Amino acid sequence: MGREIIVAASAEDFAGQASRLIADAARSAISRSGRFSIALSGGSTVAPIYARLSSEPGIDWTNVIVFWGDERFVALDNPYSNFRLGREALLDRVPIPDRNIHPMPVGARTPRDGARQYSETLKNVLGIGPNGIPVFDMIQLGMGPDGHTASLFPGNRTLGASSPPNLVRAVHAGLSPWVDRLTFTLPLINAAQCVLIAAAGANKAARIRQVLQPSSTPTRPLPVALVAPTSGRLVWLLDKAAAEEAA
Ligand code: 6PG
Repeated sequence: MGREIIVAASAEDFAGQASRLIADAARSAISRSGRFSIALSGGSTVAPIYARLSSEPGIDWTNVIVFWGDERFVALDNPYSNFRLGREALLDRVPIPDRNIHPMPVGARTPRDGARQYSETLKNVLGIGPNGIPVFDMIQLGMGPDGHTASLFPGNRTLGASSPPNLVRAVHAGLSPWVDRLTFTLPLINAAQCVLIAAAGANKAARIRQVLQPSSTPTRPLPVALVAPTSGRLVWLLDKAAAEEAA
C-alpha cells in the first residue's frame, strides 16, 4: 500500500487530522474485528493529538487496546514517562478499562528483561500474524530532528533487529532524556495495518526532505525512513513548518 502525505494548515488542523485518522481507524477496526489495537508514542507533538482524540465520538473504548511503541525506562509516574503522557492526555479522559492498557514493564529487573517481557505480552494479547509477528491495527509514531522514530536512533544496531523474538529491544538514548529505553523494532512496526507518523516543527524539515525526497547520493537511511509497512498504510502527517523543505 502507498505512502500518504498530509500537510496540516494549522496546529488545530494538525491535531484534528491526526485525531480523526486514529478515530476512523478505531471505528473501522472495531466494526471489522471487534477490537482496535494501537501503540502510542511520546514526545511533545502528541499531547494535543491525544487530548483531541479523547473527545472523538463513536469510539467504543472498551474494545480499544493500548500499548506504547517506546518508553523511557523510568517509573510510570516520572515526568519523562511516555505512559504518563498518554494517561494524562488521553486515557484518564476516556472510559477504557485498565485491563486494556499495557504500559511497557519499566519495573523489570533490567531493560532487556523488560523488552523480553513486553515481547511476550504483545504475542499473548495480540496473537501472532505472518512470520510470528503481532499485527497492530495502528502504530502512531513521532520523529525526532535527527530522524529517529520510537527509540530507534541513527546508528543504533537495533535497526538490524529482524528476528521475530526481537519485537522489542532495550536501547540507550540517542538524545535527551539520557535514560535507557525500550522500543519496538522495525519488523514489528512494519507489520502494522497502518503506521501514522506525526511530525511537527521546522527543526524536522531537513530530515523530512531527506526521507521524502531522498537524494541520489547513497547515505545511511534514517530510522524513520525505514518505516515501510509490508502491506499496511503509511501516513505522514506534517505541519507546515515540518513540510517546508519537502514541498
Ligand atoms: C520518545 C518518543 C519519540 C518522539 C520523537 C518526537 O520517547 O521520545 O517516542 O520517538 O516521538 O522524539 O518527539 P517530539 O514530538 O517532542 O518532537
